[in-house]
Amino acid sequence: MSRSAHPAGPRHADVLTEGHYSAPAADLNVLDEKVWSRTVTRDADGALTVGGIAVARLAEEFGTPAYFLDESDFRARCRAWSEAFGPDADVFYAGKAFLSRAVVRWLTEEGLNLDVCSGGELTTALDAGMPAERIAFHGNNKTVAEIERAVTAGVGRIVLDSFQEIVRVAHIAQRHGVRQRVQIRVTVGVEAHTHEFIATAHEDQKFGIALADGQAAEAVRRALSLDGLDLIGVHSHIGSQIFDMAGFEVSARRVVQLLAEIRDEHGVELPEIDLGGGLGIAYTSEDDPREPHEIAKALSDIVTRECEAAKLRTPRISVEPGRAIVGPTAFTLYEVGTIKPLEGLRTYVSVDGGMSDNIRTALYDAEYSVALVSRTSDAEPMLVRVVGKHCESGDIVVKDAFLPADLAPGDLIAVPATGAYCRSMASNYNHALRPPVVAVRDGEARVIVRRETEEDLLRLDVG
Ligand code: LLP
Repeated sequence: MSRSAHPAGPRHADVLTEGHYSAPAADLNVLDEKVWSRTVTRDADGALTVGGIAVARLAEEFGTPAYFLDESDFRARCRAWSEAFGPDADVFYAGKAFLSRAVVRWLTEEGLNLDVCSGGELTTALDAGMPAERIAFHGNNKTVAEIERAVTAGVGRIVLDSFQEIVRVAHIAQRHGVRQRVQIRVTVGVEAHTHEFIATAHEDQKFGIALADGQAAEAVRRALSLDGLDLIGVHSHIGSQIFDMAGFEVSARRVVQLLAEIRDEHGVELPEIDLGGGLGIAYTSEDDPREPHEIAKALSDIVTRECEAAKLRTPRISVEPGRAIVGPTAFTLYEVGTIKPLEGLRTYVSVDGGMSDNIRTALYDAEYSVALVSRTSDAEPMLVRVVGKHCESGDIVVKDAFLPADLAPGDLIAVPATGAYCRSMASNYNHALRPPVVAVRDGEARVIVRRETEEDLLRLDVG
């Protein structure tokens, strides 16, 4: 997943001397700012603080495991994206990465738009006051009820994902007497360099309508012929956790080519293109993500160039970053429990959470960093695997990392860059209680999503 892919992992201590797992170059007490949110630092006692609050206090007040979200970092990233793209483009935060009512309010205040992909996300967005015209609704199988809600709420755009959906949305819009603004999601045939489960621009998958074989052109023909639809553009999302801009550039080029074909066939210049989300973040020190201004420049240069070549008016660009905004802004705080040293292999460090609060390691082979955060230590580094408390040996949070050898039960450790796709993909496996999300800002911490309780579990179990 992350580019910092280590080989299969050490089976014996001797591989440590063979270069796969040389002891960490950096002092384990030093926090690499690439993977931690911006207000994270260590205080004079060596404890990690975020937003000016020490983790021991946070653990005492909110318990562990818990996600701590650095609100000022989140807001700063929103601003960086919208400033990078400027007034002639739109940034839609992808709510699937993490959504709550507080997050919706921050987005609204910071001037971002929102991409939702389910009725639940739509409800959260509307409930927290996101203006409907700033919402885009995605999904390969939106239900009729969801489409009805989106249309009647007046969402700014529905991204049509299939031939059947073109007719479905047109019919519903007509029944409500509106012309729904829509985009058509095309699969541009790009191989994104990322994990197979999160690559979405190749043709053999469930999303979108292929550019190949004239499928997308046919979808455009149909959408333009239906009264209930106002076709405003074309959409492409090539995948997620991508570092290489080349895939986005190919995608932009192909989408612009389609706009030119549409102009030639129908005499219509569609005013918008959406290039999706998918920009990678640093999970470990070896990852090297692009900054929003570099991404904005690369995308707008290619679109401008291609449009000039095709003699098209440059369309309004939109993008949909999820992970790149929220991912780096949170860490998960765990308490260390059982420690099991395996001579010649590694030490298993069990924490009070696991695959129920972070499924990404098990699902995508994702890599994470980890640090001892309740104190500093001068002990030697030891190779660890951070594991959860679930009844499954694949219950791994951090596959291979180093922690100080004097680590003890009761210490607090934290896994950075867990803001995206951790709480939003959390489960109740083994009847685990999903952890809270606590927003921290300027010396204040407040729960924005509370911890699940056993009463919550029993309430759903109606006997
Ligand atoms: N737009 C569309 C149409 C998407 O499908 C997605 C992500 C995004 C934007 C946002 O992508 P981002 O900027 O966050 O990479 N659960 C996986 C990621 C799945 C992404 C699904 N779609 C993970 O944990 O890596």
